[in-house]
Amino acid sequence: MAPKKTYSKPTIVRHTVGVMNKFGRPPATVPMSRLSGFSVEELAGEYGSPLYVLAVNELRERYRDMTRAFQTRYPKAQIAYSYKTNYLKAVCSILHQEGAWAEVVSGFEYDIARNLDMPGNKIVFNGPYKTREELIRAFNDGAMVNIDNYDEMQLIEDISDELGKILEVGIRVNMDLNNPPWHKFGFNIEAGHAYEAVKRALSNNKLKVVGLHLHAGTYVDDVTVYSRAAQGLVDFYAYIKEQLGVKLKYWDIGGGYASRNTLNWAWMPAEQTCPTFDQYAEAICPILMNGPFQAQDAPRLFLEPGRALVDEPFSMITSVVAQKRLPGGTRGVVLDAGMNVLSSVQWYNYNFQTAQDSGQMLEDTILFGGLCMNIDVLRQNASVPPVRRGDLLVIPHVGAYNISQSWQFIYLRPNIIAIEDGKIHVIKKSDTRDYVQEFENVPDEFKK
Ligand SMILES: Cc1ncc(COP(=O)(O)O)c(C=O)c1O
Repeated sequence: MAPKKTYSKPTIVRHTVGVMNKFGRPPATVPMSRLSGFSVEELAGEYGSPLYVLAVNELRERYRDMTRAFQTRYPKAQIAYSYKTNYLKAVCSILHQEGAWAEVVSGFEYDIARNLDMPGNKIVFNGPYKTREELIRAFNDGAMVNIDNYDEMQLIEDISDELGKILEVGIRVNMDLNNPPWHKFGFNIEAGHAYEAVKRALSNNKLKVVGLHLHAGTYVDDVTVYSRAAQGLVDFYAYIKEQLGVKLKYWDIGGGYASRNTLNWAWMPAEQTCPTFDQYAEAICPILMNGPFQAQDAPRLFLEPGRALVDEPFSMITSVVAQKRLPGGTRGVVLDAGMNVLSSVQWYNYNFQTAQDSGQMLEDTILFGGLCMNIDVLRQNASVPPVRRGDLLVIPHVGAYNISQSWQFIYLRPNIIAIEDGKIHVIKKSDTRDYVQEFENVPDEFKK
């Protein structure tokens, strides 16, 4: 006997099928029923929902494409993958297989890299807060340490005394490149602070400045920001070379490259605005190549992409758990994933695509996460065809920051799988209650 259909109160809604929006006619809703060759339904059946899915070949492709774009224009370009964006061991390891170095911003991340057998001299150590022990380890390993502030410089001078040698360091600089400018990190060039910092570093014969580091922001989809950053680095290098005799071994223009996810406040969809790696490279490399050196003496150029490498290769599978009409008539759909596993909903208007053919009757829908929290809204205005409890949706491009920033809250965090060459690997198992409570303790005095 066919199952009884679920009843939902009838309402009158405006059809948007075939209606133009400001970009023309939206594409027909083609179901995304397969990921890396596997049926979404079967993946969810086997590994649960929600589920993160990594297409490994896409990750490799993005790394190779970025490397090609930069190395053809600046042969000494080297990617140091920004761990914070997604420090799943499997993800870092795949990128290291491809040739990426590691960019870390804490002792914890440094440890992950060393644990993956990355030698210290392939680790770039950034960030405003590095402890004494972490710094000593990094210098002993030959890592590239970029100094963020004077307190850190003082600490490193002390370490130089302790280790009895002159330490090679990079100086993190910032410039007035965007609004609001990223002044939190490093020393400002325009205000003269960066020059003072280099001068001070050289003054005690304890440090040797061999690097400059700049990271101007995240999701910077205006390539001219990078051109100005590159020009700023060239001018600054020329100045400290002339005034202070600095010879750089490397310069590092940071991360920040955009991915094809549309920002909440953007006018245009990211597919139309996200620059290619070639466009970024073209905005940066020819300018840097004009630096104060002969081509054969060019400093190594570090790039620290995060989002642009790992966002697109990951998708999330999520299920509809309920739907309802809000008082204003808007349809609300509740999903089993919440912002605890999709924190980037604060920046992105993610696409939510049905995994099954649900027709073309799109309706503006508010997509709620499954957390029992009013703020848990995954998208305010998605165009969604009719769906019912148990239907699956796929959210593409979820690999950046969502996993490393996920927080354990109310629900256990889901499985993460990686697919390559027709093979599925579980790269992180879902949390268990035992795992979540492992370090908790109820003292005898508190027991009932
Ligand atoms: C120093 C540094 N490098 C690289 C990155 C990676 O940035 P993105 O993910 O935007 O490429 C960050 C992120 O904020 C960063 O702070």
